[in-house]
Amino acid sequence: MMEMTNYLNRQLAGVKASDILNFANFAQQIPNIINFTLGEPDFNTPEHIKQAAIQSIHDDHSHYAPANGTLALRENASTFLANKYQQHYTPDEIIVTQGATEALYTAIVSVLNPGDKVIIPTPTFPLYIADVTVAGGQPVLVNTAATGFKLTPELLAETITREGEAVKMVILNYPSNPTGVVYSPEELKALADVLRDKPIFALCDEIYSELHYDQPHASLSAYLPEQTILVTGVSKSHAMTGWRIGLLGAPQSLINELSKIHQFTITSTATVTQDAAASALGQGKDDALPMRDAYSTRRDYILATLDDLGFITVKPEGAFYIYTKIAPDLEQDDEKFAYDLAERGLVAAVPGSYFGPGGEHYLRLSYATSMAEIKQGMTNLKNYVARQRTE
Ligand SMILES: Cc1ncc(COP(=O)(O)O)c(C=O)c1O
Repeated sequence: MMEMTNYLNRQLAGVKASDILNFANFAQQIPNIINFTLGEPDFNTPEHIKQAAIQSIHDDHSHYAPANGTLALRENASTFLANKYQQHYTPDEIIVTQGATEALYTAIVSVLNPGDKVIIPTPTFPLYIADVTVAGGQPVLVNTAATGFKLTPELLAETITREGEAVKMVILNYPSNPTGVVYSPEELKALADVLRDKPIFALCDEIYSELHYDQPHASLSAYLPEQTILVTGVSKSHAMTGWRIGLLGAPQSLINELSKIHQFTITSTATVTQDAAASALGQGKDDALPMRDAYSTRRDYILATLDDLGFITVKPEGAFYIYTKIAPDLEQDDEKFAYDLAERGLVAAVPGSYFGPGGEHYLRLSYATSMAEIKQGMTNLKNYVARQRTE
């Protein structure tokens, strides 16, 4: 019999199944475990957004939406981005996508030719590597552990010089999954200066922009608008992961081209969920604030425990993840540590090395979980570490 998998797109062989998902599935089977692996808000979608969706159904908004999205949503998105972050995209410079995930895919597939290189600072959200690989591109992973998990202008310039003209894109994610690191306006300006007038796109994943704890969110799009492709959405800001609404922003000439991949892969996103998202970005422009305050309290609680235990953490300033280095006297293989912690300590935290070079010896804890769970999880962690230290 012929083995038909041999005849698939060869790029697929280069795409790994998700280690994070495997770990999360393993951890889920363990009774009474406290789960810090989740990448989505534990809050429910605000009531006015649900009501907008219900109204939309009653109004028979059951037909195809315009390919790039309903005008109401694109108008609200345009105003939201301008008022909140001084990002200036007209409604025609925005595509409504199937979550930020489709926005990333559309941008990457639209830009890359086979063999093109994409600079990805690590530790990173692994989806970027998979998308670049599927598009026939070559991910260039840049370890940022030595620079506080940030891509510096020096590292960027050095990498561009070393990798040469095949570099077509750099992917930046701030606030970052998995590290929670953010960039200041000065840091973004300096990165923009390196990229300016080079034929390189900056794909900026700002899906966590509303979850910024200590300073206002800044965007590279303010300093390098012609080369920036913005990815954002309502999944994290409005606790709407299941509604699958993302946003892609870019100058008009680029949007006209990006729209082709979007249209031919998904036609348009669901009309009802777009109506709900229009309410999120219109009436609900500050819906994230109470959630942000809750996340901030949780972050501080976990940080204090990790500090006490001798773990080393770069204080996360955004998103809802803590990336912490295992205390030096404990098991240093992060995968071994995480599996043992899950089985014997009843705490599930993702091994840091699953996020790429620079993540060895780290764990990622998501604090998108209730304070009661967090308190129990930290007690479990303390007990586990105490046992390790006396065994
Ligand atoms: C950095 C980052 N980008 C994009 C996404 C996907 O967002 P969406 O659910 O809107 O597709 C996630 C989800 O965890 C993420 O962490």
